[in-house]
Amino acid sequence: MMVIAIDGPSGAGKSTVARMVAKRLGLVYIDTGAMYRAVALAVLRAQIPMEHTEDIIGIAENVTIRFEQPSAAEPNAAQQVWLGNENVTDRIRDPAVTQLSSPVSAIGGVRAALVARQREMARSVGVVMEGRDIGTVVLPWAEVKVFLTASPQERARRRCTELAAKGHPADIAVVAAQMAERDERDSTRSDSPLRPADGSVLIDSDGLSACEVAERIISMARSVECRCSTE
Ligand code: DC
Repeated sequence: MMVIAIDGPSGAGKSTVARMVAKRLGLVYIDTGAMYRAVALAVLRAQIPMEHTEDIIGIAENVTIRFEQPSAAEPNAAQQVWLGNENVTDRIRDPAVTQLSSPVSAIGGVRAALVARQREMARSVGVVMEGRDIGTVVLPWAEVKVFLTASPQERARRRCTELAAKGHPADIAVVAAQMAERDERDSTRSDSPLRPADGSVLIDSDGLSACEVAERIISMARSVECRCSTE
Protein backbone atom coordinates (compact mmCIF):
# COMPACT_ATOMS: atom_id res chain seq x y z
CA MET A 1 0.00 0.00 0.00
CA MET A 2 1.50 3.27 -1.10
CA VAL A 3 1.81 6.02 1.52
CA ILE A 4 2.68 9.54 0.37
CA ALA A 5 3.32 12.36 2.85
CA ILE A 6 3.15 15.99 1.72
CA ASP A 7 4.10 18.72 4.19
CA GLY A 8 4.63 22.44 3.83
CA PRO A 9 3.34 25.87 4.82
CA SER A 10 -0.10 27.16 3.87
CA GLY A 11 -0.56 28.33 0.30
CA ALA A 12 2.24 26.14 -1.07
CA GLY A 13 -0.35 24.22 -3.12
CA LYS A 14 -0.44 21.03 -1.03
CA SER A 15 -4.20 20.39 -1.25
CA THR A 16 -4.53 20.76 -5.00
CA VAL A 17 -1.44 18.68 -5.66
CA ALA A 18 -2.31 15.99 -3.09
CA ARG A 19 -5.81 15.62 -4.57
CA MET A 20 -4.37 15.23 -8.09
CA VAL A 21 -1.82 12.65 -6.98
CA ALA A 22 -4.43 10.65 -5.03
CA LYS A 23 -6.81 10.61 -7.96
CA ARG A 24 -4.17 9.48 -10.45
CA LEU A 25 -2.76 6.76 -8.22
CA GLY A 26 -6.10 5.57 -6.81
CA LEU A 27 -5.17 6.53 -3.24
CA VAL A 28 -7.28 8.15 -0.51
CA TYR A 29 -6.62 11.86 0.01
CA ILE A 30 -6.49 13.05 3.63
CA ASP A 31 -6.31 16.75 4.49
CA THR A 32 -5.12 16.81 8.12
CA GLY A 33 -5.39 20.62 8.27
CA ALA A 34 -9.16 20.17 7.87
CA MET A 35 -9.15 18.10 11.07
CA TYR A 36 -7.41 20.87 13.09
CA ARG A 37 -9.83 23.34 11.53
CA ALA A 38 -12.83 21.20 12.51
CA VAL A 39 -11.60 21.13 16.13
CA ALA A 40 -11.07 24.92 16.01
CA LEU A 41 -14.64 25.37 14.72
CA ALA A 42 -16.01 23.24 17.56
CA VAL A 43 -13.93 25.28 20.07
CA LEU A 44 -15.25 28.56 18.61
CA ARG A 45 -18.83 27.37 18.81
CA ALA A 46 -18.45 26.15 22.37
CA GLN A 47 -16.83 29.54 23.19
CA ILE A 48 -13.97 27.90 25.04
CA PRO A 49 -11.17 30.36 25.90
CA MET A 50 -7.72 29.34 24.62
CA GLU A 51 -6.37 29.05 28.20
CA HIS A 52 -8.77 26.14 28.87
CA THR A 53 -6.50 23.63 27.17
CA GLU A 54 -8.01 20.58 28.90
CA ASP A 55 -11.47 21.42 27.52
CA ILE A 56 -10.00 21.93 24.05
CA ILE A 57 -8.20 18.58 24.24
CA GLY A 58 -11.51 17.02 25.35
CA ILE A 59 -13.13 18.34 22.18
CA ALA A 60 -10.32 16.96 19.99
CA GLU A 61 -10.67 13.56 21.66
CA ASN A 62 -14.44 13.37 21.42
CA VAL A 63 -15.69 15.09 18.26
CA THR A 64 -16.51 12.97 15.25
CA ILE A 65 -14.65 14.14 12.14
CA ARG A 66 -15.35 12.33 8.92
CA PHE A 67 -14.22 12.78 5.33
CA GLU A 68 -16.51 11.90 2.48
CA GLN A 69 -14.62 11.17 -0.72
CA PRO A 70 -16.21 12.26 -4.03
CA SER A 71 -18.23 9.49 -5.64
CA ALA A 72 -17.04 7.74 -8.81
CA ALA A 73 -19.84 9.57 -10.64
CA GLU A 74 -18.41 12.97 -9.61
CA PRO A 75 -14.65 12.42 -9.35
CA ASN A 76 -13.89 16.16 -9.50
CA ALA A 77 -16.19 17.15 -6.64
CA ALA A 78 -14.52 18.44 -3.46
CA GLN A 79 -13.95 16.13 -0.53
CA GLN A 80 -16.62 16.87 2.13
CA VAL A 81 -15.73 17.30 5.80
CA TRP A 82 -18.25 16.37 8.49
CA LEU A 83 -18.21 17.43 12.13
CA GLY A 84 -20.73 15.15 13.82
CA ASN A 85 -23.86 15.36 11.67
CA GLU A 86 -22.97 18.67 10.05
CA ASN A 87 -21.23 19.23 6.75
CA VAL A 88 -18.58 21.86 7.65
CA THR A 89 -16.61 21.82 4.38
CA ASP A 90 -17.10 25.57 3.84
CA ARG A 91 -17.35 26.70 7.46
CA ILE A 92 -13.86 25.46 8.35
CA ARG A 93 -12.42 27.88 5.73
CA ASP A 94 -13.90 30.95 7.49
CA PRO A 95 -11.13 33.42 8.41
CA ALA A 96 -11.95 33.15 12.15
CA VAL A 97 -11.51 29.36 12.02
CA THR A 98 -8.29 29.73 10.02
CA GLN A 99 -6.86 32.06 12.67
CA LEU A 100 -7.86 29.84 15.61
CA SER A 101 -6.68 26.59 14.02
CA SER A 102 -3.03 27.57 14.46
CA PRO A 103 -3.02 28.02 18.29
CA VAL A 104 -5.36 25.03 18.64
CA SER A 105 -2.93 22.87 16.64
CA ALA A 106 -0.06 23.90 18.93
CA ILE A 107 -1.68 22.11 21.91
CA GLY A 108 0.09 18.78 22.47
CA GLY A 109 -3.05 16.91 23.59
CA VAL A 110 -4.94 18.05 20.48
CA ARG A 111 -2.11 16.79 18.28
CA ALA A 112 -1.94 13.45 20.08
CA ALA A 113 -5.68 12.90 19.58
CA LEU A 114 -5.63 13.81 15.89
CA VAL A 115 -2.37 12.01 15.05
CA ALA A 116 -3.86 8.76 16.43
CA ARG A 117 -6.89 9.18 14.15
CA GLN A 118 -4.71 10.03 11.15
CA ARG A 119 -2.59 6.89 11.61
CA GLU A 120 -5.75 4.83 11.93
CA MET A 121 -7.04 6.27 8.63
CA ALA A 122 -3.83 5.16 6.88
CA ARG A 123 -3.77 1.68 8.43
CA SER A 124 -5.67 -0.23 5.80
CA VAL A 125 -5.63 1.91 2.65
CA GLY A 126 -3.01 3.68 0.52
CA VAL A 127 -3.09 7.42 1.20
CA VAL A 128 -1.81 10.80 0.17
CA MET A 129 -1.81 12.67 3.46
CA GLU A 130 -0.99 16.36 3.65
CA GLY A 131 -0.22 18.62 6.60
CA ARG A 132 2.73 19.94 8.60
CA ASP A 133 4.05 16.85 10.42
CA ILE A 134 3.06 13.93 8.20
CA GLY A 135 6.58 12.90 7.15
CA THR A 136 8.15 13.74 10.52
CA VAL A 137 5.59 12.42 13.03
CA VAL A 138 2.36 10.93 11.66
CA LEU A 139 3.66 8.58 8.94
CA PRO A 140 7.48 8.71 9.11
CA TRP A 141 7.51 5.36 7.26
CA ALA A 142 5.91 6.93 4.14
CA GLU A 143 7.53 5.69 0.92
CA VAL A 144 7.39 9.16 -0.64
CA LYS A 145 7.90 12.31 1.44
CA VAL A 146 7.61 15.75 -0.07
CA PHE A 147 8.20 19.17 1.48
CA LEU A 148 6.31 21.57 -0.74
CA THR A 149 6.95 25.28 -0.49
CA ALA A 150 6.66 28.53 -2.47
CA SER A 151 7.72 32.13 -1.93
CA PRO A 152 5.70 34.15 0.66
CA GLN A 153 4.39 36.47 -2.09
CA GLU A 154 3.19 33.60 -4.25
CA ARG A 155 1.58 31.84 -1.29
CA ALA A 156 -0.28 35.03 -0.22
CA ARG A 157 -1.43 35.58 -3.79
CA ARG A 158 -2.80 32.04 -4.02
CA ARG A 159 -4.57 32.33 -0.67
CA CYS A 160 -6.22 35.60 -1.76
CA THR A 161 -7.50 33.97 -4.97
CA GLU A 162 -8.84 31.04 -2.93
CA LEU A 163 -10.54 33.35 -0.39
CA ALA A 164 -12.10 35.49 -3.14
CA ALA A 165 -13.50 32.36 -4.80
CA LYS A 166 -15.11 31.44 -1.48
CA GLY A 167 -16.69 34.88 -1.07
CA HIS A 168 -14.06 36.31 1.35
CA PRO A 169 -12.16 38.93 -0.68
CA ALA A 170 -9.07 40.02 1.27
CA ASP A 171 -6.20 42.46 1.12
CA ILE A 172 -3.00 40.72 0.04
CA ALA A 173 -0.85 42.58 2.61
CA VAL A 174 -3.17 41.52 5.45
CA VAL A 175 -3.22 37.91 4.21
CA ALA A 176 0.60 37.89 3.92
CA ALA A 177 0.97 39.22 7.48
CA GLN A 178 -1.49 36.64 8.90
CA MET A 179 0.27 33.86 6.99
CA ALA A 180 3.66 34.95 8.30
CA GLU A 181 2.30 34.91 11.85
CA ARG A 182 0.79 31.41 11.41
CA ASP A 183 3.96 30.09 9.75
CA GLU A 184 6.06 31.43 12.59
CA ARG A 185 3.84 29.70 15.18
CA ASP A 186 3.58 26.44 13.19
CA SER A 187 7.37 26.30 12.68
CA THR A 188 8.52 27.26 16.17
CA ARG A 189 6.03 25.36 18.39
CA SER A 190 7.66 22.76 20.58
CA ASP A 191 5.38 19.87 19.52
CA SER A 192 5.86 18.71 15.90
CA PRO A 193 7.05 21.98 14.33
CA LEU A 194 6.81 22.35 10.57
CA ARG A 195 10.12 21.21 9.07
CA PRO A 196 11.23 18.98 6.20
CA ALA A 197 11.29 15.30 7.23
CA ASP A 198 14.47 13.24 6.88
CA GLY A 199 14.46 11.76 3.41
CA SER A 200 11.97 14.26 2.04
CA VAL A 201 12.28 15.82 -1.39
CA LEU A 202 11.98 19.60 -1.41
CA ILE A 203 9.84 21.09 -4.16
CA ASP A 204 9.54 24.85 -4.63
CA SER A 205 6.28 25.36 -6.52
CA ASP A 206 7.04 28.94 -7.67
CA GLY A 207 6.79 28.92 -11.44
CA LEU A 208 5.37 25.37 -11.55
CA SER A 209 1.75 24.49 -12.20
CA ALA A 210 -0.03 22.18 -9.75
CA CYS A 211 -0.07 19.61 -12.54
CA GLU A 212 3.72 19.78 -12.94
CA VAL A 213 4.25 19.34 -9.20
CA ALA A 214 1.79 16.42 -9.15
CA GLU A 215 3.63 14.77 -12.07
CA ARG A 216 6.93 14.94 -10.15
CA ILE A 217 5.37 13.27 -7.13
CA ILE A 218 3.65 10.63 -9.27
CA SER A 219 6.97 9.71 -10.90
CA MET A 220 8.63 9.51 -7.46
CA ALA A 221 5.84 7.12 -6.37
CA ARG A 222 6.17 5.03 -9.54
CA SER A 223 9.92 4.68 -9.14
CA VAL A 224 9.41 3.45 -5.56
CA GLU A 225 6.85 0.89 -6.82
CA CYS A 226 9.29 -0.13 -9.53
CA ARG A 227 12.14 -0.62 -7.06
CA CYS A 228 9.88 -2.74 -4.82
CA SER A 229 8.78 -4.97 -7.67
CA THR A 230 12.39 -5.69 -8.76
CA GLU A 231 13.69 -6.41 -5.26
O1 DC B 1 -3.23 23.36 6.18
P1 DC B 1 -4.25 24.24 6.90
O2 DC B 1 -4.07 25.71 6.67
O3 DC B 1 -5.65 23.80 6.61
O4 DC B 1 -3.99 23.96 8.46
C1 DC B 1 -4.73 24.59 9.47
C2 DC B 1 -3.84 24.75 10.71
O5 DC B 1 -3.55 23.46 11.27
C3 DC B 1 -2.49 25.43 10.45
O6 DC B 1 -2.27 26.46 11.41
C4 DC B 1 -1.47 24.37 10.63
C5 DC B 1 -2.15 23.30 11.45
N1 DC B 1 -1.78 21.95 11.04
C6 DC B 1 -0.88 21.27 11.82
O7 DC B 1 -0.37 21.82 12.79
N2 DC B 1 -0.54 20.00 11.50
C7 DC B 1 -1.07 19.41 10.42
N3 DC B 1 -0.71 18.14 10.14
C8 DC B 1 -1.99 20.09 9.60
C9 DC B 1 -2.31 21.39 9.93
